[in-house]
Amino acid sequence: MDTVVSGIRSTGNLHLGNYFGAIKNFLKMQNENNCFFFIADYHALTTHPKPDDLHGNIKQVLAEYLACGIDPEVATVFVQSDVPEVSELYLLLNMNAYVGELERTASFKEKIRKQPDNINAGLLTYPVLMAADIIIHKANKVPVGKDQEQHLEMTRRFARRFNMMYSVSYFPEPDAYNFGKQLIKIPGLDGTGKMGKSEGNGIFLADSPQEIKKKVMRAVTDTGPTAPDQEPSEPVKNLFTIMNVVSEPSTVKHFTDSYAACTIRYGDLKKQLTEDIVKFTEPIRVRINDILNDKVYLHKVVSAGAEKARESASKTVREVREIIGYRPF
Ligand code: TYM
Repeated sequence: MDTVVSGIRSTGNLHLGNYFGAIKNFLKMQNENNCFFFIADYHALTTHPKPDDLHGNIKQVLAEYLACGIDPEVATVFVQSDVPEVSELYLLLNMNAYVGELERTASFKEKIRKQPDNINAGLLTYPVLMAADIIIHKANKVPVGKDQEQHLEMTRRFARRFNMMYSVSYFPEPDAYNFGKQLIKIPGLDGTGKMGKSEGNGIFLADSPQEIKKKVMRAVTDTGPTAPDQEPSEPVKNLFTIMNVVSEPSTVKHFTDSYAACTIRYGDLKKQLTEDIVKFTEPIRVRINDILNDKVYLHKVVSAGAEKARESASKTVREVREIIGYRPF
């Protein structure tokens, strides 16, 4: 049995990238493994949310998680800030994380570009907090999308460094995990880059069919293939990537063939894609709204989750303190 940890920042609604990059794999694992699924609301502070927005986002993301099928009866579902032990492990790991390696992290460099007015220390040490989230439960598998690969490498490094420093084999080195061969990257609808929460290029699980239609119809394409078996441009490839995850293989084949034969009409492709996305998201959207209205249920889920997560986390922190040399008098 593996121990599995997966998380999501509470900085916006869940989108197709989150689902197909991380949640789908988690769903396949939750019944057979010791699974922890949490909302990374400490990480969310790097963007300085207003208190009401912070709380509202946590609640929304929690409801969305549950609506995807994450079962709090079998997995431990919790909110990161309900488990303060993680902040102690984060502090301890920070002592062995070097500024140079943190500055070289791709996500940090990207943040410097995107939010030059708010380059806070939390952004720099983001991978350390993420490592703490994972190794505090001694996880060995972490279902994530491609964008988190480097963070997982750093998690392994921090775990290994701790073990070497104290000559123990205490923390396992966790792997980024996907059931397929590779980690997944779901692209956005703007033709380039990954689908993101705040890039304005995403389809959210809570989007209405009308919103989905509008977004897909506006997605970037090109002027169409001009020679048989021509390599598609990036924006068109991206639409096929999304189609691959939401549509039937026969649908994908139909459009791939018509692209290769230069008979494709992007309008038809978008219409079909809209239909298949709506078919996939609509039941989830209905459940999100039901769950959001059930305050008693949400409260029950997070309190039970916090208790279970704290039990596991506090055991680790107790043992880590002992290993480091904090001992009772
Ligand atoms: P976040 O909130 O950006 O994304 C949550 C999960 O969704 C995946 N994902 C994608 N996968 C494929 N294509 C995309 N376009 C796409 N966009 C997002 C991410 O890879 C991730 O698996 N740092 C994390 C949150 C976190 C965490 C953790 C995750 C904090 N601690 C411990 C796992 C374990 C983050 O910002 O994910």
